[in-house]
Amino acid sequence: MQEGLSEIQNQAKDDLAKAESLDAVEQVRTRYLGRKGGIINEIIKAIPGLPPEQRSSTGKSANMLKQEISKWIEDARVKLADKEQTSEAKEMFDLSLPGEHKPYGHRHPITQTIDEIKGIFRKLCFDIEYGPEVEHEYYNFDALNIPADHPSREDFDTFYLGNKRLLRSQTSTVQIRVMEKKKPPIRMIAPGKVFRPDTVDARHASMFHQIEGLTVDEGVSFSDLKYVLTLFAQSYFGQDVKMRFRPSFFPFTEPSAEIDISCSICKGKGCSVCSHSGWVEVLGAGMVDPNVFETVGYDAEKYTGFAFGMGVERLTMLRYGIDNIRLFFENDLRFLSQF
Ligand code: PHE
Repeated sequence: MQEGLSEIQNQAKDDLAKAESLDAVEQVRTRYLGRKGGIINEIIKAIPGLPPEQRSSTGKSANMLKQEISKWIEDARVKLADKEQTSEAKEMFDLSLPGEHKPYGHRHPITQTIDEIKGIFRKLCFDIEYGPEVEHEYYNFDALNIPADHPSREDFDTFYLGNKRLLRSQTSTVQIRVMEKKKPPIRMIAPGKVFRPDTVDARHASMFHQIEGLTVDEGVSFSDLKYVLTLFAQSYFGQDVKMRFRPSFFPFTEPSAEIDISCSICKGKGCSVCSHSGWVEVLGAGMVDPNVFETVGYDAEKYTGFAFGMGVERLTMLRYGIDNIRLFFENDLRFLSQF
């Protein structure tokens, strides 16, 4: 009897190996494990007719074989089900269907302007530096020679965070941070976000971007400042751009200037972007105040330098004739995808 069982075992194994579909596996199952006429059940039914000493061992073996075959059948089913699923998926894949369009993203127009300006100044051998957006009052005001009673320190001009921390209101902070860690000669620009509690309108936002510039060396003069900024304006706006230097005041530069460029939208004739004046202010600049050099421990007798700060949104608006700063921050793809 035992021999018979192992023969059945081998036979079942062979049959399953040959079964190539779920239907075929089901046939194997009925043949061996079927309630009526299944081979194993027939053996179990025949046990009472065996000599008593064979009954219990045959029963045990038959049950073990039944379990074994059940397990093989289950394995075969899982394997075939996987196979049938993938071949079904293959049949469903229609190569002639048109492709799915995945839109490409691209850099934000403000990032594009920053990258372009970085490129212009890199050619002039300027380093690119960065500073923190959460700043200490010292870097935003004190070290920049801004007196305690200066209006830019007022609550309505600066976001204070408490504990002498604030959201920087200008990138001039990076001038100090760079001079603290490096010795002259220095030639750098520092792009980044700045924050001011301005009421939001077509030209103001509570966050915008600036690019700071600083050079320090022996013998740097105002004509170097003028030369570098003229080169910059011509590179960014084109050779025929006109510039106007107006005397101004910043606590950390002396003398100081505000720089206007001829409105690139109306070519100086007057339009809504330039408030019909033909000029737009794009930069603050000046020669570094000796007090600032003293604060960072530079010899103010030996070194001179110039600094400038420009508004990135303003430059981008002028370049493309955009009349509302909010468009940059609303994340409307109909606007953004035009750049
Ligand atoms: N930090 C000034 C501002 O935000 C601009 C500036 C930078 C002026 C450097 C002079 C020198 O208005």
